[in-house]
Amino acid sequence: MTSATTPVPTQREPELAGQTVIVIGGSAGIGFETARRARAEGADVILTGRNPDRLKQAAAELGAPRTAAFDANDAAALKRFFEDLPAPIDHVMVTAGGPTYGPLLEMDSAQVRQAISDHVVLGLEVARNAVGKTRPGGTLLLMGGTGGRRVGHGLGIASAATAMLPPFTAALALELAPVRVNPIAPGFVATPLTAEVAADPARSAALAARTMIGRNGEPDDFAGIAVFLASPASAYLTGQLICVDGGFSVT
Ligand SMILES: NC(=O)c1ccc[n+]([C@@H]2O[C@H](COP(=O)([O-])OP(=O)(O)OC[C@H]3O[C@@H](n4cnc5c(N)ncnc54)[C@H](OP(=O)(O)O)[C@@H]3O)[C@@H](O)[C@H]2O)c1
Repeated sequence: MTSATTPVPTQREPELAGQTVIVIGGSAGIGFETARRARAEGADVILTGRNPDRLKQAAAELGAPRTAAFDANDAAALKRFFEDLPAPIDHVMVTAGGPTYGPLLEMDSAQVRQAISDHVVLGLEVARNAVGKTRPGGTLLLMGGTGGRRVGHGLGIASAATAMLPPFTAALALELAPVRVNPIAPGFVATPLTAEVAADPARSAALAARTMIGRNGEPDDFAGIAVFLASPASAYLTGQLICVDGGFSVT
């Protein structure tokens, strides 16, 4: 028996060196943490968000050279943003927009239409504008949620709205190939979006207790996955939902 061992590399190249990562909704929460992780992996990040002050602060913290303040649901503003970007783009991540909760029967038809279509329309508009500028093998990353895996009091339309994301993104991946498209479905994550629940110890603990890991998500739990989905390590992965919820949706 030989005692020869394979040397373990102690240093590695940054995964996104010299690449451009655009985060639509990158001034807070999961998007901001992903931008931070992408920077650490050598990427140039471009951040967008609606609040210009928060955006400026986030960009200064990350050393992001470029920001743009606009509502991502404003199709004309989104188009202008992409038109003004230098090509090529490597990766686009969409973390803007949130779910709509509440009893179905209390929603009017306009609210239902909006809640059902919000994420899909935004994802499609981003894809439409990004596709001509994104290099082959580049990526589009969308955010979903785990609500589609079950129904529940309080979830309301959110279950139906998130359930459509896997087939939507798979169909988008088919049309955009060789650009890769994957959605992440997060469980509960403490971010500005969920500040009210996170600040309630009983609600927060009840959610954590339903995970297998025994805690709620942190933005960094998703940043690592998001960077992986943009990196060469995931080059053969497209059209797939990645559920990151500490096991919440299967308990
Ligand atoms: N946190 C969770 O527990 C959780 C669970 C499941 C799914 N998700 C999904 O994950 C994504 C990110 O969530 P998060 O918790 O990180 O949210 P967050 O903390 O509220 O951060 C959202 C970011 O997007 C920006 N943004 C929001 N709406 C926008 C719009 N219409 N146009 C442009 N920028 C916009 C926000 O800045 P401005 O407000 O200044 O625009 C902020 O930078 C969302 O799609 C959310 O639905 C989150």
